[in-house]
Amino acid sequence: MTSITYFLLNRRSFFSRRMGFGLLTICLILLTGCQASGDMRVQPYNRPLSANSFFADGRSARPFVAGTVPQTDQRVDDPALTGKNEDGDYITNLPVPVTNELIQRGQERFDIYCVVCHGVDGHANGKAIAFGFPKPPDLLQDSAKAIADGKIFDIITNGQGNMLPYGYRVKAPDRWAVIAYIRAMQLNNGHLTQDLTPDQLKQLGNK
Ligand code: HEC
Repeated sequence: MTSITYFLLNRRSFFSRRMGFGLLTICLILLTGCQASGDMRVQPYNRPLSANSFFADGRSARPFVAGTVPQTDQRVDDPALTGKNEDGDYITNLPVPVTNELIQRGQERFDIYCVVCHGVDGHANGKAIAFGFPKPPDLLQDSAKAIADGKIFDIITNGQGNMLPYGYRVKAPDRWAVIAYIRAMQLNNGHLTQDLTPDQLKQLGNK
């Protein structure tokens, strides 16, 4: 009995000593790895707008390469990108031709981004509302009909109150498509199931 205990104890201490040495070696290797040459730890970089003798003009900030265009809708002089006219007022018409294709595109985007709150038919009965998100106004009621197209463009772009901004997900041309779809639902007094007639398209286009 005593000899078995002795054996077990001895075996355990043998293993734990070996494991201890192993762990120590790994730690030492890791520590040396972190301290190695220092090239990765200290990397050359310029602080914003700092001086730099490498460039002839002495500045670290470089000018844009000729022909660089902004990735986002940054032009401020085009109503189709701002929703505003040259006086800074919201435009009250759609700045793009109103076609059934545009409205279908709008319906597709609306179903992706807006339905969760505003509901398929715009009556604010989306799933998020059922889960307790603050209820938005009904998009088919008169107060929503009276909002200028440019203002809706702004609401989609920048959000409003509890509504989040969608500008980074719904690009400018799609925002107009969504607005055309909302207007089409308002004209139809409900969810769209078929194309608008040429007269209805004209009505939306000339509004
Ligand atoms: C997460 C929920 C949510 C989503 C998604 C959402 N909205 Fe809203 N929306 C709201 C809420 C809440 C309001 C009320 C905002 C306020 O407090 O003024 C609102 C307000 C609006 C209004 C103003 C309505 C009025 O009568 O004042 C419009 C127009 C609108 N949303 C359009 C959209 C469009 C288009 C989309 C999709 C691109 C969208 N919303 C996506 C929640 C949402």
